[in-house]
Amino acid sequence: MKHLLLAITAAAPLIAPVHAAAETIYLTAGGMLDPAAGRIVENAALIIEDGKIVSVGTMSSLTAPEGAREITLSGKTVLPGLIDMHVHLTGDPTKGGGYSALGYPGERFVIWAVTNAEKTLMAGFTTVRNTGADGYEVLALRDAVNEGEIPGPRIFAAGPPVGIVGGHCSDNNYLPPEAEATGEGVATGPWEMRAKVRQNIKYGVDFIKTCSTGGVFSKGTLLGAPQGTPEELAAIVDEAHMRGLKVAVHAHGTIGIKNAIRAGADTIEHASYLDDEAISLAKRNGVYLSMDIYNTEYTLSEGEKNGVLEESLEKERQVGGVQRESFRKAVKAGAKVVFGTDAAIYPHGDNAMQFSRMVQFGMTPLQAIRAATSLAAEALGKSGDLGCLSAGCAADLIAVSGDPLDDVSALETVDFVMKEGVIYKGGAE
Ligand code: ARG
Repeated sequence: MKHLLLAITAAAPLIAPVHAAAETIYLTAGGMLDPAAGRIVENAALIIEDGKIVSVGTMSSLTAPEGAREITLSGKTVLPGLIDMHVHLTGDPTKGGGYSALGYPGERFVIWAVTNAEKTLMAGFTTVRNTGADGYEVLALRDAVNEGEIPGPRIFAAGPPVGIVGGHCSDNNYLPPEAEATGEGVATGPWEMRAKVRQNIKYGVDFIKTCSTGGVFSKGTLLGAPQGTPEELAAIVDEAHMRGLKVAVHAHGTIGIKNAIRAGADTIEHASYLDDEAISLAKRNGVYLSMDIYNTEYTLSEGEKNGVLEESLEKERQVGGVQRESFRKAVKAGAKVVFGTDAAIYPHGDNAMQFSRMVQFGMTPLQAIRAATSLAAEALGKSGDLGCLSAGCAADLIAVSGDPLDDVSALETVDFVMKEGVIYKGGAE
């Protein structure tokens, strides 16, 4: 008993508080950027109760409630916590390139995921969508974060991606036939696909991930070649939607992108080869495009050293520039482009590096910030709860120095992080 108590006491500082204590916080800052309003309000003040924002105003319009804990972020701009719509917390690019990933047991990936979750949160990303893992490990991570056992962002997890034999989702093709390796989500035909969706839902996933083309990092797959028939894709989407879950579809090539949209996809991941028809289909169907335009730089400079196959490097050389031009076209056409980076291909915690590329390829800083806040929340079905700074929103807040509307790279250095009213970084003034 004594040992147990000692263990609990010793472990206490490492354990993040489960819920925001029933406390009231009065937070003031040099400025505040609500993405919905789109401008910085100076001398901002916010009142937070039990992990939620209850009122928003200025230091002169809002006074500190009796007994409130005061947090002063002078000279800083407060924004909603950022949302990355495409990460793989189990992956580490320096250890998992090409064949090297096969040398690690599954447990190591889980350990990396724990540290990656913390790095992601400390970089200001208070919510992420984990768009696939080998099994159900990220669901356990999600629950451990939610129960305050480890620090991390709020996680929406997909579980094993559902996809065809030999496809980009789950199979990846690294091992020879005698290894008889097959991914957890691999299926053939609409009914088997439905069964995989049902299995994922049974174990508690938050959304379904599938693939309608090949990919850069799967062996022997082509970016332009569709994967899954329209019937298979429609079955996956129907089964997921029937159960109230959204579907994220990995698609680089044009035909696969259109197949996915026509099948009812909610988000298209990568969306590299967009033509005008694909863009208007996405717009007409209210589909969000999650385009990971930063990681190409990391792969092309570090990939070879990390063991990435030459085949993948060659695919990356082909797709990187094209995807950036597609991004420009999609933004210009007014498509809904959300912030998704595919962190794991590059180191977790560097997620915000993508903001400046989004501005370089056609967004205003405000559009890029909305892509990672209000628009991402909308894509998650969480408008008014996440990615916002008004009464009723979760108290997920970050603070940066400088004006991110002037220079969006200000988001690369986050000085303060709060999630659901709990401070994880800064705020000791
Ligand atoms: N997971 C994706 C794939 O393997 C990453 C693509 C990265 N490259 C890019 N230009 N977005 O296909």
